Amino acid sequence: MSQQIDHLMNEDRRFPPSEEFAANAVASPDLYKAASADRLGFWADQARSLLTWHTPFSEVLDWSNPPFAKWFADGELNVAYNCLDRHVEEGNGDRVAFHFEGEPGDTRTITYAELTEEVKRAANALSELGIGRGDRVAVYLPMIPEAVVSLLAVARLGAIHSVVFGGFSADSLRSRIDDAGAKLVITADGGYRKGRASALKPAVDQALSDRGDGVQATVENVLVVRRTGQDVDWSDERDLWWHDVVPQASADHTAEAFPAENPLFILYTSGTTGRPKGILHTSGGYLAQAAFTHRNVFDLHPESDVYWCTADIGWITGHSYAVYGPLANGATQVLYEGTPEHPEPGRWWDIIEKYGVTIFYTAPTAVRGFMKQGRQIPQKRDLSSIRLLGSVGEPINPEAWMWFREVIGGGKTPIVDTWWQTETGAIMISALPGITTAKPGSAQVPLPGIAIEVVDEKGEAVGNDAGGLLVATEPWPSMLRGIWGDPDRFVETYWRMFQDKGFYFAGDGARRDEDGDIWLLGRVDDVMNVSGHRLSTAEIESALVAHEATAEAAVVGASDETTGQAVVAFVILKESFLREHTPEGLAQALRAWVGEQIGPIARPRDVYIVGELPKTRSGKIMRRLLRDVAEGREVGDTTTLADTAVMSTISSQVK
Ligand code: WT7
Repeated sequence: MSQQIDHLMNEDRRFPPSEEFAANAVASPDLYKAASADRLGFWADQARSLLTWHTPFSEVLDWSNPPFAKWFADGELNVAYNCLDRHVEEGNGDRVAFHFEGEPGDTRTITYAELTEEVKRAANALSELGIGRGDRVAVYLPMIPEAVVSLLAVARLGAIHSVVFGGFSADSLRSRIDDAGAKLVITADGGYRKGRASALKPAVDQALSDRGDGVQATVENVLVVRRTGQDVDWSDERDLWWHDVVPQASADHTAEAFPAENPLFILYTSGTTGRPKGILHTSGGYLAQAAFTHRNVFDLHPESDVYWCTADIGWITGHSYAVYGPLANGATQVLYEGTPEHPEPGRWWDIIEKYGVTIFYTAPTAVRGFMKQGRQIPQKRDLSSIRLLGSVGEPINPEAWMWFREVIGGGKTPIVDTWWQTETGAIMISALPGITTAKPGSAQVPLPGIAIEVVDEKGEAVGNDAGGLLVATEPWPSMLRGIWGDPDRFVETYWRMFQDKGFYFAGDGARRDEDGDIWLLGRVDDVMNVSGHRLSTAEIESALVAHEATAEAAVVGASDETTGQAVVAFVILKESFLREHTPEGLAQALRAWVGEQIGPIARPRDVYIVGELPKTRSGKIMRRLLRDVAEGREVGDTTTLADTAVMSTISSQVK
């Protein structure tokens, strides 16, 4: 970490907003003034001006039972109405909500009026299937318009969606279905990825199959979108085609008002222990902060902008910045199904040129990937429509930041580096374009109304030019309301560390520079960040030891030029397997195994077969030392190891 800090301290490039940008900016410095004068009043104003309430709220925050917050609790609204109907009622029905582009090149243009109608039909179809307030619906879909329609139809009914990323395996899907007790799964036959139809329905069938453990899946129906036309297995009593029930359903549907604290969705994310956590978000506070941040951080002018967030709907970024924030603001978006490389590496730039994208939000791992391919590829396209760039998921190194601005942003656009988490629901730290002077590599300042500190282990603010732990010192509207079904784990994971201060601990290390700007330094726990997605070492270790050849396994995140961090596994094999197989063959088999168990994103970059693992006298694996090996460094202090010789054995085995 010290090396990284030294590097940061050398960063003295500054990019103030242009006069032209500042003159037309959505955000104004008054936001900071208003929020610091009266934080709760500020959020009440945002919630009132950005959302339409069926029943106005009188109370802003109820923090009488921390850490269980209630925001705008006596207010009532319908989230889908706020994202759809009201725009149509205000005369914006003809505005494009989505320019959809499928990977094979098929396109659909969907206006707000059309999207509203489709969501009303889908809501009626879902009620026919018995879905109502509080029911859980699992969504396992590619990035197609039906994914957005599904989320909004569930929200419209006051039900709760749980999106499972299409890249996750049948096992991951089943554990999420079970944990949430989902009644319905919405999926597709498949989607297009890398030029091929990639099946989804078989994973749902496998997930719901009888596993001989006597545990019956809670799912009653599976609603299947036809996307690729590939053959699917079918259960007549369980499965229904989307095209058989949604278009036939009535397009009349009145949005019922639900309390602001009605749950909106569960989204699973990795933690330090093996089991993913179902992060719970509710309606009014979540939508208010998603809308506020989307409008101000991305400088959204809904009448003229074309906004594109490249995140998949399976992650929180897809929820807050490809569905709820932009739709609440009446934005026009691009929705793209596939990968950036198909049919060739310039696909994303072609899409930007074709639709005239003005605001582009993506991840550092993608930027670094494009840097590798060379600037010639984007430079062949006309990207002059772009006027703002955004980054999320991990720290963006100054080099990637500069490339992003120069090559994609024409050397002129502001870049907002947005720090937040699945748990925070919406952006917490970011520059405001038109106001903040940008610093490459720093997320910079907490947003108006957000109270963030960098503290030492006792919870004392470290001050400028010092590092520590990142905390939120006050509740915020889009904060998680809990972990589904596990209130104790919620308290334990996020609030125990600074219990007496009442701070939320995010799990990230951070530093304030001499100006007080915040630099994120990565996770301080055993959680990795691979391509901007959180993976837990424990989860991958438990997949590895579930393989019959494995005796013991330890996983670390090692720095990687493209993905930020990469999964590196150290595995002790059972003697019997070593006799019959080569270590190389087994390493390959284990990589594939993890891909099947969790999903391709968790597949280790390297699997090292070793004879022993470094442990303390109390038996704790010292991952710090394994990280040194994985990153090719000299191994650090080994004095607390039970057997100090073990690291030299491992190092030589890895070589
Ligand atoms: C973790 C949250 C929020 C959407 C994507 C990831 C890291 C996120 C930044 C940033 C440095 C960042 C943190 C955080 N992170 N954004 N701008 N700079 N680090 O959501 O899977 O919940 O992961 O991603 O480590 O804790 P997530």
